[in-house]
Amino acid sequence: MKERAERAIAGCRRIALMTEEMGRTTRRFLTEPTHAVHALLRERMEALGMRVAVDAVGNLRGLWLPRGAGEKRLMLGSHIDTVPNAGAFDGVLGVMLAIEWVGIAKELRLPLGIEVTAFSEEEGMRYGVPFLGSRAVTGTFDATMLKWRDADGVTMDAAMRAFGLDPGKIEDAAIGDDVIGFVELHIEQGPVLEAEGIPVAVVEAITGQTRLNLRFTGQANHAGTTPMHLRRDALAAAAEWITKVEKQIRKAATTTDPGLVATVGRIVVEPNAGNVIAGSAEVGFEIRYGSSAARHRWTKKLVGDAEAIAKRRGIGFEWTERLDQQTVRMDRRLSTMLKAAVNGCGYSVRTIPSGAGHDAMVMAAHVPTTMLFLRSPGGISHHPTESVIEADVEASLNVGREFLMRLAKEVG
Ligand code: GLV
Ligand code: MN
Ligand code: MN
Repeated sequence: MKERAERAIAGCRRIALMTEEMGRTTRRFLTEPTHAVHALLRERMEALGMRVAVDAVGNLRGLWLPRGAGEKRLMLGSHIDTVPNAGAFDGVLGVMLAIEWVGIAKELRLPLGIEVTAFSEEEGMRYGVPFLGSRAVTGTFDATMLKWRDADGVTMDAAMRAFGLDPGKIEDAAIGDDVIGFVELHIEQGPVLEAEGIPVAVVEAITGQTRLNLRFTGQANHAGTTPMHLRRDALAAAAEWITKVEKQIRKAATTTDPGLVATVGRIVVEPNAGNVIAGSAEVGFEIRYGSSAARHRWTKKLVGDAEAIAKRRGIGFEWTERLDQQTVRMDRRLSTMLKAAVNGCGYSVRTIPSGAGHDAMVMAAHVPTTMLFLRSPGGISHHPTESVIEADVEASLNVGREFLMRLAKEVG
């Protein structure tokens, strides 16, 4: 498996160079470098004898249908878009490993159909909404999103057409009941496996999340001539709210709601000039927690706080919900098979919840789904220093071998 692990890691490093921004990895949904990623993946898939196509939402899908496999197939995959200034492994490693799993199935002559999907979008960076690729695959893509615009004013519809896709055909991307399950391989993106000295773990559930866009609208004006008490400063209003969010959620996380996290990771200020009072501040907010009731309660409370702050300051306020994704449990039968495969390889069987979102969240509502995590050195992800240990990648391939043999026996 050493050669497979080396090839998967080298593939991730090469794809990290396919970027929108010189010197760092940023690859948002359907931006130009996605073509180069598709070309590399296509080459690897076709070399194995897979049939490759790109669906209408830009997912690259490779089909491995060996003789005697029948119509049913297992799906494997992860995403190929990234956050800004990303690492090389979030998402892409899952695609590289999926291709290697196909290579293993081929080597073992397993009569098992496998489809590998490189989902075009999972991070939610370009249109403020994640899982575009897996939504199309599960037939849950909401076509009203096609009118949404990115930061440059390009509609989702136009972005798809510019990439050479036909948004009118998104419905055709949906899978039917010939898919028997979905497995996503992904880095943990957290410190738990490293702390315990364990190479891989089986995911038990993925934490639900809600994302909002909030806009504070004040009055842009001269920073030198407008007295403090006559200002309507949108950025100051947003800042007051952000610190209030942090204070309350920190307290709740150590008292009533352990594990609760909320983040403001994005703020767009207009006109964003040192000598102009901010006229508007648009804030990207997300909150993650297992209990939907508590997540919704907190969302309502925090939006109420923003409203109150805006009112007191004479500032306009509006908000929109971009995502409300429930917590999902992984499929018991498929996870048990994956745990048996981990055990069969002689590794400790560890199950773990995922705080990060994954395409598996969307897939799980439609097809039996499970995930395998690989240890993240330093617990670092969404950062250029994100890495993996080659021996762990080998471990995940050994698990793949065991898992595929078990599944082929069951299906066949
Ligand atoms: C995806 O990486 C997410 O959890 O935001
Ligand atoms: Mn990510
Ligand atoms: Mn990811």
